[in-house]
Amino acid sequence: MRPVQFDPVRIDPVIDTPRLRLRAPRRSDAARIAALCSDFEVARTTARLPHPYGLEDAEAFLASGDTLDPRRQARFVLDHPAEGLVGMLSFFGEPAPATEIGYWLGRPYWGAGLMTEAVKAALAWAVRDWGRTHVRAWRLDENQASDAVLVKAGFLYTGERRQTFVLSRGEALPSTGMIWLA
Ligand SMILES: CC(C)(COP(=O)(O)OP(=O)(O)OC[C@H]1O[C@@H](n2cnc3c(N)ncnc32)[C@H](O)[C@@H]1OP(=O)(O)O)[C@@H](O)C(=O)NCCC(=O)NCCS
Repeated sequence: MRPVQFDPVRIDPVIDTPRLRLRAPRRSDAARIAALCSDFEVARTTARLPHPYGLEDAEAFLASGDTLDPRRQARFVLDHPAEGLVGMLSFFGEPAPATEIGYWLGRPYWGAGLMTEAVKAALAWAVRDWGRTHVRAWRLDENQASDAVLVKAGFLYTGERRQTFVLSRGEALPSTGMIWLA
């Protein structure tokens, strides 16, 4: 098997796509993240975004980035050359067997293929520079937009089902497991 080329010193990767730059979050991103995440329509299909979502939530999230283990977690903001920060994408969980992907995009930017573009590029980075061979995802059954993103990025259905607790709605909802294989 090919040795993993992971360099633990390189914790600040930049990934360029045709329309976006994926880069590490900065403390100065807090106000913009809060502005986009305070939209209930963004939070309601994610597991972890609270609602209401204020500046202090964004600041706490960004501060938690200081203690991330770069072998286990990677966070990116999606920068658009004209719009600035438009969303986020992260990998979390254990390197094996269960690195998981999660993401959100500000509502004004939905429906233009941006998240599909970001996910594809982030997966390529995860294989090439982070030594991953597969990535998992869970999405709510009702979240057909995320299903489309994952399918377009090459994810498959595992057949797993579970109830996922959705913080912004205070309830557990049915969700579907998916996997992407390098
Ligand atoms: C999910 C999300 C990231 C999608 O981002 P996006 O950039 O709009 O996604 P894309 O444009 O790349 O692809 C969306 C696809 O979903 C499709 N879609 C959107 N709403 C849909 C719906 N209600 N039913 C079926 N398909 C839908 C679009 O038609 C598009 O597919 P197409 O390109 O084949 O036409 C965005 O809606 C979002 O941030 N939602 C809130 C947070 C969230 O749900 N995160 C994921 C948690 S698992």
